[in-house]
Amino acid sequence: MLARLTSASLLGIEAFPVEVEVDVTARGLPHYATVGLPDTAVKESKDRVRAALKNTGYNFPLKQITVNLAPADMKKEGSGFDLPICLGIVSAEGLIPPERFEGLMIVGELSLDGRIKPVRGALSMAIAARNLGFRALVLPSDNAREASVVQGISVYGVKTLPELVAFLKEEETLVPVETDPSQLITPVPPYDVDFSEVRGQEYPKRALEVAAAGGHNVLMVGPPGSGKSMLAKRIPSILPPLTFEEALEATRIWSASGLMTDGKALVASRPFRSPHHTISDVAMVGGGANPKPGEISLAHHGVLFLDEVGEFRRPVLEVLRQPLEDRTITISRAVGSFSYPASIMLVAASNPCPCGYLGDRKHPCTCTPRQVSKYRAKISGPLLDRMDIHMEVPSVPYEDLMSRKDAEPSASMRERVIAARRVQMERFRGEKRVFCNAQMRARHLKKFCVIRDEASQLLETATDRLGLSARAHSRILKVARTISDLSGQEEIGTAQIAEAIQYRSFDRTRMP
Ligand SMILES: Nc1ncnc2c1ncn2[C@@H]1O[C@H](COP(=O)(O)OP(=O)(O)OP(=O)(O)O)[C@@H](O)[C@H]1O
Ligand SMILES: [Mg+2]
Ligand SMILES: [Zn+2]
Repeated sequence: MLARLTSASLLGIEAFPVEVEVDVTARGLPHYATVGLPDTAVKESKDRVRAALKNTGYNFPLKQITVNLAPADMKKEGSGFDLPICLGIVSAEGLIPPERFEGLMIVGELSLDGRIKPVRGALSMAIAARNLGFRALVLPSDNAREASVVQGISVYGVKTLPELVAFLKEEETLVPVETDPSQLITPVPPYDVDFSEVRGQEYPKRALEVAAAGGHNVLMVGPPGSGKSMLAKRIPSILPPLTFEEALEATRIWSASGLMTDGKALVASRPFRSPHHTISDVAMVGGGANPKPGEISLAHHGVLFLDEVGEFRRPVLEVLRQPLEDRTITISRAVGSFSYPASIMLVAASNPCPCGYLGDRKHPCTCTPRQVSKYRAKISGPLLDRMDIHMEVPSVPYEDLMSRKDAEPSASMRERVIAARRVQMERFRGEKRVFCNAQMRARHLKKFCVIRDEASQLLETATDRLGLSARAHSRILKVARTISDLSGQEEIGTAQIAEAIQYRSFDRTRMP
């Protein structure tokens, strides 16, 4: 007997349907063959299928079993097909009428005892199933809430093989999981940290507000304990709340990485990712034998924080350059290429020198000039030219740290950021792939960052005196644009240019 059912697999963050055909014949010697799976996955799949069937009281028939997964030319991961293969065998043995599979997409990994384990990419599978006109998606119960965000398709979560078989034989009923997507995105984003906790540091906070307002990448330099990590963690709390579309996109990426396991239906707040400096380049940008999104994609629509940026291996920073520019990362495979979204705000932090205290008011620096310049070269590395804002984060004076005065909360900073973003949305309406000032290209600068008279003179003088590069010049214009937007002002004047020049401390020939 032949059983035919539909499952799904992932390519990047997109799901595609996979036809699973199981043929069981009594003729000849017992035999198990799988067509359309990579060789290494075949044996493991057979072992799991056999154990799961036996341990849940079903028969693993000692017959000729042929499993075909189509399309054959797409690379498929093995484990998500365990469940449909088992069902195919059970059905081919006459226990489930074949028509019960009609209109269903079924995915799930099996453990040896027949429990159904979560898969990656549930949300994308639900979207694909809905778009292809399936009636229902049947998947591991751990993935059901995530998949149920998609409207227009029934989502059934199952825990064990016998439970699902009983449902398919219409001996038991299952209640589809339902979620109201409008309840998932709250107008006030859920962050457990807030800028009000940071005492003093008015200058770094202002710089971060500017960065958030224009989507600018930031480099922070300061001594140990000055609060760089503390400040960075709070950036998502002043970014505009995720829109539903953004949340969906972020969730698809997280899900493709297998990270949607905490029972949440959506990634509801802007991601903050802080990979350790020992990270590999594959873990940073994605890929690998069973491709998964990297940290830069997990930070999509949020912040990627590189703490101690000088400690990262150079190739890891090199591979970030292209996706930072393109806001997407392309993974090439023998069978074709695909891409992961990677639109992020990059925030990097470093000490100013090996001992950490260069320029500090209290501690003397013990480094030699040679050590300092070598260290600086490391921080500058391949990413400095991707940074719009460089700022110094001095250690907080004791009085500030002990102050009882409450600092400004994230909420009011965020309001100003949202207002500035609104101006930018209006400005870039009709421009392709530009949503905020940081994304402007040369022709946008000519159009939207015109400066006159005094402001233009100031920039010219500063460029000469500080020895700023042409690149720094355009970064200053972009940041000045954002500063004007924050104050609701169309024109870019001297005050905005002067502030933007302040944020180029690393371009200056002299040390901070
Ligand atoms: N401005 C501040 N207000 C309140 N607490 C602060 C402030 N700055 C630092 N702290 C406290 O000091 C701790 C250390 O700060 P943090 O780890 O952010 O410093 P850092 O600059 O990242 O240091 P390092 O260079 O060692 O990584 C924080 O957890 C916080 O408790
Ligand atoms: Mg730190
Ligand atoms: Zn030093």
